[in-house]
Amino acid sequence: AAARARGALERLIRDVPDFPEPGVLFKDITPVLADCEAFHDVVEAMAEAGRDADGVTVVDRVLGMEARGFLLGAPIALALGVGFVPIRKAGKLPAETYGVTYDLEYGTATLEMHTDALRPGDRVLLVDDVLATGGTIAATTELVHRAGAEVHAVSVLMELAFLEGRAAAGDAPLSTLLTV
Ligand code: PRP
Repeated sequence: AAARARGALERLIRDVPDFPEPGVLFKDITPVLADCEAFHDVVEAMAEAGRDADGVTVVDRVLGMEARGFLLGAPIALALGVGFVPIRKAGKLPAETYGVTYDLEYGTATLEMHTDALRPGDRVLLVDDVLATGGTIAATTELVHRAGAEVHAVSVLMELAFLEGRAAAGDAPLSTLLTV
């Protein structure tokens, strides 16, 4: 499944120059989502990080980060047979939340998770489309720890290796289908 998924990504990811600003080459995954077979292969390959060598699911929840992490995280949770937890930008979740603020290139960002989304001791899989600086993964890991839960693994579709965000995963194994 992983080899098929990688082939589909190489074929379908669209490079968009100068988005969102001049000089940035944006990797657009919407053609992957639009291709049912490719989308399915990518979801199956990324879900492997939540299974053991015998193919048994070993995580209690899948967490996806707004917004593109939702597109991958929700179907991966269903593939693993576990629930999904959205990690949202500030002010979007209705009930009581934990919040973590982290630095961006310009300014700061805050991510939030409902305080009752995880139980102490839960093992979770973090899912996102892109690992860039790692700020999103590091903040989400902090939210998981606030809830007394642990990050079993991190699964991203694509790693922008030149930004060296990999350390943000800490001790949790990081798997990626594509390294750019
Ligand atoms: C992008 C991407 C990751 C994050 C990676 O999200 O989907 O979540 O940035 O960057 P980092 O490793 O430097 O933290 P974005 O903030 O653009 O949000 P979106 O998915 O809502 O467009």
